[in-house]
Amino acid sequence: MHNALELADDPAAQQWEGDREKELLKLEALYCSHGDTVHYSEPPKIFDRCEGSFIYDLQGREFLDLQMWYSACNFGYANARLNDAVKRQLDKLPQIASQYLHPEKIELATLIARDAEEKFGAKGRVHFNVGGSQAVEDSLKLVRNASGGKSLMFAFEGGYHGRTLGATAITSSYRYRRRYGHFGDRAQFIPFPYHFRGAKGMTKEEYGEACVKNFERLFETEYYGVWDAKAEQAEYAAFYVETVQGTGGYVIPPPNFFVELKKVLDRHGILLVVDDIQMGFCRTGKLWSIEHFGVAPDILVFGKALTNGLNPLSGLWAREELISPEVFPPGSTHSTFASNPLGTAVGLEVMRMIQEQDFTVSVPEKGRYFLQGLEELKRRHKIVGDVDGLGLALRVEICEPHDSFTPSKAIVDRMVDESLKGDLEHNGRRYGLVLDIGGYYKNVITLAPALTITKEEIDLAVALLDQLFHRVTRSL
Ligand SMILES: Cc1ncc(COP(=O)(O)O)c(C=O)c1O
Repeated sequence: MHNALELADDPAAQQWEGDREKELLKLEALYCSHGDTVHYSEPPKIFDRCEGSFIYDLQGREFLDLQMWYSACNFGYANARLNDAVKRQLDKLPQIASQYLHPEKIELATLIARDAEEKFGAKGRVHFNVGGSQAVEDSLKLVRNASGGKSLMFAFEGGYHGRTLGATAITSSYRYRRRYGHFGDRAQFIPFPYHFRGAKGMTKEEYGEACVKNFERLFETEYYGVWDAKAEQAEYAAFYVETVQGTGGYVIPPPNFFVELKKVLDRHGILLVVDDIQMGFCRTGKLWSIEHFGVAPDILVFGKALTNGLNPLSGLWAREELISPEVFPPGSTHSTFASNPLGTAVGLEVMRMIQEQDFTVSVPEKGRYFLQGLEELKRRHKIVGDVDGLGLALRVEICEPHDSFTPSKAIVDRMVDESLKGDLEHNGRRYGLVLDIGGYYKNVITLAPALTITKEEIDLAVALLDQLFHRVTRSL
């Protein structure tokens, strides 16, 4: 193996790493399951090193990462402060069964719960688990328990809540369920205010209101299948929402949307569960993305950037009535690695860092600057149909150039292939780009750069995207 300096000037070292890559890919093809998402792009890519906003492949090629592990790595790769928290814990108490307490778990839960109490006006508790989907499963238990065993949920078209069986049932894509039959009841999926593709002739706010009205119509008469007017009972226990849709393509609803939706839910005794797994931890410029929208959730689920992509930890915060020891007693749920101390130690450091550093100012500023760059790209490239952003959750919707509206997955697929070659150029230096693709038509570049990204790196990102867009449109 070679270090970056050796690789930069030494063709023999590059050749050696190239051969090693080929050998590793052969072994992967034989011995790794292809059931994960690695083979979404061919050939799959191997990375070897990371720092800040960049990751490096085996040959030392530099890639500007604009998706940061689907927003799990909000605070930059190899963040020294967060890595040190893990190292300290490694030397102190790296292992302890979840059945016993350790200080960091209690302190982390306290910070989250006190913050939520201040913001949402309700005392609550925190429950930890290891991955986002598992925390969603835990939230389903709370919801079913609180509603006397109701198993039906509302969720949004375009929503994504994970790929365990329960989480898949409330995720809109049938693709994730098709092979496995039904384990839990499939949610009823309600249209999200996706204004760019919504009804024409309405403002974003009007479209949001229309979406809520359409939803509310379901409760007008028992014949629409969700409401027993005599018993004043909904058949549905909760509405699962991503405030800003993640996998759905970073779709940002209008500011009045959740206030109006929550009124309908409150009138019908339906809980609001906010899945902030992707948009939490300052991605949108606030700790929780729902804070932009003026409503308090009953349950809030989080994961990903809680540990900046280090030891996995996820969790949920719930109002006391839903999670008090009386209703959610010891043993209600358990996982060996839930509240693992390496995870809680880094999670605690993340929360302290957020309290000390002003991400609520810097992220919106950087987001506005990045969005201006994207708007300029939209003016210059007909393939860009829509750009939008909230903090550093930014979207670029790629369309056919003849109308800048018809979704083009094909162009996006070409972009992903080109960006992984690592041969874009800026100021005499070569770069690749790491992009994540989402959206209802798989035609949206969902940009989630490091919240620590610099202005120069944003300029680089816009310049490289510009070059990439030129490259893929030359052949159209
Ligand atoms: C909004 C949302 N919910 C749930 C999940 C599932 O989390 P995990 O992949 O950690 O199981 C994800 C992951 O991308 C997500 O974006």
